[in-house]
Amino acid sequence: MSVILAIESSCDETSVAICTNGKITANVIANQTIHQNYGGVIPELASRVHQQNIVPVIQQALIDAKVSKKDINAIAFTRGPGLLGSLLVGVSFAKSFALALDLPLIAVNHMHAHILAHFIDDPKPSFPFLCLTVSGGHTQIVLVKDFFDMEIVGESLDDAAGEAFDKTAKILNLPYPGGPLIDKHAALGNPLAYKFPEPQIKDLNYSFSGLKTAILYFIRAREKENPDFIKENLNDICASVQHSIVQILLNKVKKAAKQYHIKEIAIAGGVSANTGLRKALEEKSVELGWKVFIPAFEYCTDNAAMIAIAGHYKFINKEFVGQDIAPASRMEF
Ligand code: KG4
Ligand code: ZN
Repeated sequence: MSVILAIESSCDETSVAICTNGKITANVIANQTIHQNYGGVIPELASRVHQQNIVPVIQQALIDAKVSKKDINAIAFTRGPGLLGSLLVGVSFAKSFALALDLPLIAVNHMHAHILAHFIDDPKPSFPFLCLTVSGGHTQIVLVKDFFDMEIVGESLDDAAGEAFDKTAKILNLPYPGGPLIDKHAALGNPLAYKFPEPQIKDLNYSFSGLKTAILYFIRAREKENPDFIKENLNDICASVQHSIVQILLNKVKKAAKQYHIKEIAIAGGVSANTGLRKALEEKSVELGWKVFIPAFEYCTDNAAMIAIAGHYKFINKEFVGQDIAPASRMEF
């Protein structure tokens, strides 16, 4: 019998989940809408809002899971990577909570947790599998050999895929975070309306900064001829940009699958909520005989359920940390 309470506070979501015997019994997420006014996450504001949210979110999670504080066996928390001020709130709370209740502490790497979200529900992938982790800060192809034995075999050398979505949205005057809005407009547009160059990057690595610049120059040139170009063609622009990003992402996954002779392919992270990516991966599964794993929407973007499931597997291994643990904003993979 194990009840793990998990805290996620690496960016702008305050989330607390409870994992009871390997099953998620609560997953409460408080989104921070304040950043919409600024076109991006403001770290100082994020940590302040975490501070306001953390206690009510913990209380709601206990109510949802129908457990009391005395039932908890361990406290798991996101140690990094992420914004230091945001991480500090979750880490400090986890440490105080564990100290007060005399419980063991479990430190979780946020990027591992995105991948381990695939072990929340069935069907679960079997080892080894490849996972394309695409979020606001990272783009990685990971060879997953075991729960905590993972190797990055390819990654972005500059911007993350989520950043490519968000920065394009900014160029198109869409509010932050732009990824979900591009997705929404893309559903109504023609993905082949405009073509953007695919970066020629070696091995299994990515680059997205060139795409962003290409989009910016393309829009500027078109706006010279027609000042209403964005307004009149928003759906087609979004569909074409999304199509380009998805093609870039999947071409390298295809290469990795061939190189490692692996046909079990998963996606994880905020951008794995993208409908274009999800659909294209399904199509690839038919074309290439892949078995694909696509997370439920609620486990794509940041959430504590993924920290709780990672905590569950670390609890089994008795992988605990002491009260001297500190957050690591650039935590190594
Ligand atoms: O994993 P996540 O919630 O936070 C980080 O750890 O970074 O990912 C956030 C990123 C943002 O860039 C957001 O625009 C993107 O995920 N995102 C999407 C979609 N939903 C979230 N991008 C494209 N399409 C979506 N539907
Ligand atoms: Zn994340």
